[in-house]
Amino acid sequence: MNHLQGKQILLGVTGSIAVYRSLDLIRLLQAKGAEVKVIMTKGAQAFITPLTFSAISRNKVYTDIFQTYPEYPIVHLDLAKWADALVIAPASADILAKLAQGIADDLLTSTFLGCSKPVLIAPSMNPQMYAHPAVQANIARLKSYGFHILASTQGKTACGDVGQGRLPPVENMVEAIESLFTKKDLTAYKVLITAGPTQEAIDPIRFLTNHSSGRMGFALAKTAYQRGAEVTLISGPTSLKPPYGVNFLSVTTTQDMLEAVLRHFPSVDVVVMAAAVMDFKPLYYPHKIKKREKLSLSLEKTPDILAILGKEKKHQYLIGFAAETKDLLAEAMKKLKAKNLDMIVANEISQSNTGFKATTNKVSVIYKNGAYEQWPLMSKEDVAWRLWDRIKTFL
Ligand code: CTP
Repeated sequence: MNHLQGKQILLGVTGSIAVYRSLDLIRLLQAKGAEVKVIMTKGAQAFITPLTFSAISRNKVYTDIFQTYPEYPIVHLDLAKWADALVIAPASADILAKLAQGIADDLLTSTFLGCSKPVLIAPSMNPQMYAHPAVQANIARLKSYGFHILASTQGKTACGDVGQGRLPPVENMVEAIESLFTKKDLTAYKVLITAGPTQEAIDPIRFLTNHSSGRMGFALAKTAYQRGAEVTLISGPTSLKPPYGVNFLSVTTTQDMLEAVLRHFPSVDVVVMAAAVMDFKPLYYPHKIKKREKLSLSLEKTPDILAILGKEKKHQYLIGFAAETKDLLAEAMKKLKAKNLDMIVANEISQSNTGFKATTNKVSVIYKNGAYEQWPLMSKEDVAWRLWDRIKTFL
């Protein structure tokens, strides 16, 4: 499900060194099918010329409220009407102050006042400036008016200072913009999702694991957040960036995952165990095993997290995944019963376009009462979206 296809995004850029990152943002939005038009403040133009934004956005760039543009005679109101959403990124301390006060002394601030569409503001500045009570008060005020404020991230800023105030990664910004257009039907729910593989160490150098990429669990977390849920994502090691807005916990072993899951379990409404949990672990050698030493491993079972949740569950709706190479439905059905689940998603993993490493997935969804649906090959995000549609009907 691509919520940005055909959307018209009006991007306001202001005087912050992070303004160059808005160029990447435009490209990602375009790759998702959105059209972008840009308003630049004077401060933004001190960093980058309008020509650069015009070349990347493939549209005229608007800078002056007193200029008559042939296509937009009343430029601030016409642009506000054109937009499906207004995104101000990066937003400097100065623009936050003006927006919070309703000052309309240039094109961007006037467009903001004339805009009735969703607005997302992404502050970006030096950590000292960001932490200033005046800036925080402006952010709080804008939030209280119902505008979406993107949380800035921690790290080293352009001036060399370390702290909060950085613009988030552009992928996260795109996710947040996409969220402006998604239905918010999961707002009442807290969900816990596990993803990725777990790893079990053999010695200080080696470990056992599996091919799980984490994509299915991450897609479930991203889509649940975009639909308004409060999301905790507990993941084993993967190469993926945590989705925007989720409470992300990174774990390594099955035991770590069990402990993290049990800490959150009592307070959540839904658990989706999409992780490919290691079922066994080797006896750990504290020193590197040398070639000349023994070459066999003794394995012991790890806890079955989902089975434990199945025994302990009270109000929680419990969903498992079943990765199978044969007898998909029968094996998945057995797991649903044995682990006391409400739903199980059976995953064929013997083909390259479905299951572990793929970006697409072909699943069957089996319900507690024995009913099941077989879905066609879809992107993992589409599978996630449709799964939430189904889960929602049971909550
Ligand atoms: N699972 C779990 N803890 C484990 C093993 C699996 O919580 N130690 C969960 C998985 O996250 C998944 C479901 O149980 O949601 C089924 O996992 P799967 O690996 O398909 O099956 P297993 O229960 O491990 O059984 P088998 O290995 O016999 O197929």
